[in-house]
Amino acid sequence: MKIKKFEDKHLNAVSNLWLNSFSENFLSILGRKIITSYLSEFLKIKHNKGFVLKKNNQIVAFVLYGNESKVINKILFKNFIFIILSLLKFIISIDIKNVLLFINIAFFNLILKLNPPSFDILKELLIVVVDKKYHGKGYGKKLIKNSIKDKYFDKNTFIFVKTLSDKNQNIKFYKKINFKYIAKIFNRVFLKLKIEY
Ligand SMILES: CC(C)(COP(=O)(O)OP(=O)(O)OC[C@H]1O[C@@H](n2cnc3c(N)ncnc32)[C@H](O)[C@@H]1OP(=O)(O)O)[C@@H](O)C(=O)NCCC(=O)NCCS
Repeated sequence: MKIKKFEDKHLNAVSNLWLNSFSENFLSILGRKIITSYLSEFLKIKHNKGFVLKKNNQIVAFVLYGNESKVINKILFKNFIFIILSLLKFIISIDIKNVLLFINIAFFNLILKLNPPSFDILKELLIVVVDKKYHGKGYGKKLIKNSIKDKYFDKNTFIFVKTLSDKNQNIKFYKKINFKYIAKIFNRVFLKLKIEY
């Protein structure tokens, strides 16, 4: 098992993994094109860094760190019409779940814009995904624990993560790897981890 820096050559494998193993995510409901667009914009920003976990030369997990506001602005700008058409498609097909997810994300981002939390200056663990086939085998934990040893992270600083909801099982996962509760904003729980390695 190897942990490597996420690079352009991993774009396809990481997009597939994201789409197949994290289907409830907002970008997943918009499809592969948006995920690939997000990942390629992510890689263009110097401040951001990702890692992939390879088993038998196949990527089975990835994690992204940094700040996604610039990435989100870019993909919204580049794919504005596509995103609006996707919303219309969900409305026409009475896909209540996805329409509500759209509204929820829009409100949440508005709240954060109007009232940015103090920890917003920290690096964020933006997303961590493990291939469904390998859940519960310690890969998620190993990927995070090992990737935060990278010199990209300054010792004795914090990184934070936000969960999709306060009922989300992932909170238990983050607590298992020593993330501590910071706050709850619009039903999302924010947790932080001290870099001590
Ligand atoms: C969340 C996720 C990354 C966890 O990865 P994983 O490799 O399955 O987790 P691990 O096996 O490393 O688990 C580490 C610890 O957390 C616990 N844990 C993991 N997922 C858990 C869950 N859903 N509920 C409760 N505990 C959980 C494990 O039991 C383990 O505990 P232990 O150290 O006492 O044995 C994985 O489930 C996933 O990819 N989910 C889909 C994408 C997602 O939701 N990502 C997070 C939001 S960005």
